[in-house]
Amino acid sequence: MRVLSGIQPSGKLHIGNFFGAMRQHLELQAKHESFYFIADYHALTSNPNPADVPRNVLDVTMDYMALGLDTEKTVFWCQSDVPEVVELAWLLSCITPMGLLQRCTSYKDKIAQGLSANHGLFAYPVLQAADILIFNSNLVPVGADQKQHIEVTRDIAGYFNNTYGETFVLPDEHIIESVAVVPGVDGRKMSKSYGNAIEIFEPQSSVKKKVMRIVTDSTPVEEPKDPDKCNVFALLKLVASLEELAQWDKKYRDGGMGYGEAKKRLVELLIEYFEPYRQKRAELENNLDAVKQVLENGAKRAKAVASETLAKARKAVGLDYRSCK
Ligand code: ADP
Ligand code: TRP
Repeated sequence: MRVLSGIQPSGKLHIGNFFGAMRQHLELQAKHESFYFIADYHALTSNPNPADVPRNVLDVTMDYMALGLDTEKTVFWCQSDVPEVVELAWLLSCITPMGLLQRCTSYKDKIAQGLSANHGLFAYPVLQAADILIFNSNLVPVGADQKQHIEVTRDIAGYFNNTYGETFVLPDEHIIESVAVVPGVDGRKMSKSYGNAIEIFEPQSSVKKKVMRIVTDSTPVEEPKDPDKCNVFALLKLVASLEELAQWDKKYRDGGMGYGEAKKRLVELLIEYFEPYRQKRAELENNLDAVKQVLENGAKRAKAVASETLAKARKAVGLDYRSCK
């Protein structure tokens, strides 16, 4: 069973990324052959400042390494080190109906948010399909927002196999279910692009400031409160033990507790949760060569698999004049 997933290098990862995706990636690596990559080609669809891209790639790598990436076992690389996927994306593009891409909601959402409607953004799911298919991936753990892209991948693989003969393995979608959307300090989905994120390795003083700013309602201290509607409680759920959570649940419902009290405990728990990894993260900052080496090694291993699948696909579509007798 091969597991594959990609994460865009949009800067230092936040706790929404961790509980929503990364934690599961790290857990799966013990049980399965895992392939994880930094989707820098995909990130170009939102036209980042070129000066920021290299640092963002290394930040994501260091975050993964600090939190327990098994660099021996797991293949971890930077997408653009294996450009074979771009060639495969072209082969796939040529059998992908326009209508399939026009129905993709993430494209429509991004346009609605004001991103420019460039061709890369439109073709994004085809490149994602190439990422998945080129590595013969069986399981693709992603958040619910990516479900449609996996369905599109299966559709594209099906068209290709029907047209040119069995070439690709169809992946199963594997939606990460355990965690609902993690809210940011303003109550919207925590996201780098909303400026409401708490980074995993944010300095402790800044974690504190951000938690204290989390938006809550104005229920007075003495009145009962609904934990299920509270952003602070939603974050406590991620880091508190079940016993402690039950106590907070009761405190909320009984009344007599201010949100400040819950926030103070949340700061402690967040700091405690990531504390064991902080030192490793700081050490990596001082050893960027070792970090780059992990990506180099990963790229080599990934390339070996990718070039084999690409050769098969090239042959299937007839890019193969040498075989002509
Ligand atoms: P961002 O919105 O900060 O740019 P990405 O879209 O790059 O984050 O998400 C990377 C991964 O993290 C995806 O698998 C996504 O489902 C997950 N993720 C991102 N934000 C959250 C969140 N607030 N709650 C849960 N999962 C999240
Ligand atoms: N689109 C994914 C995201 O924004 C990142 C991604 C790119 C990906 N290629 C992938 C995820 C292949 C899984 C498989 O989160």
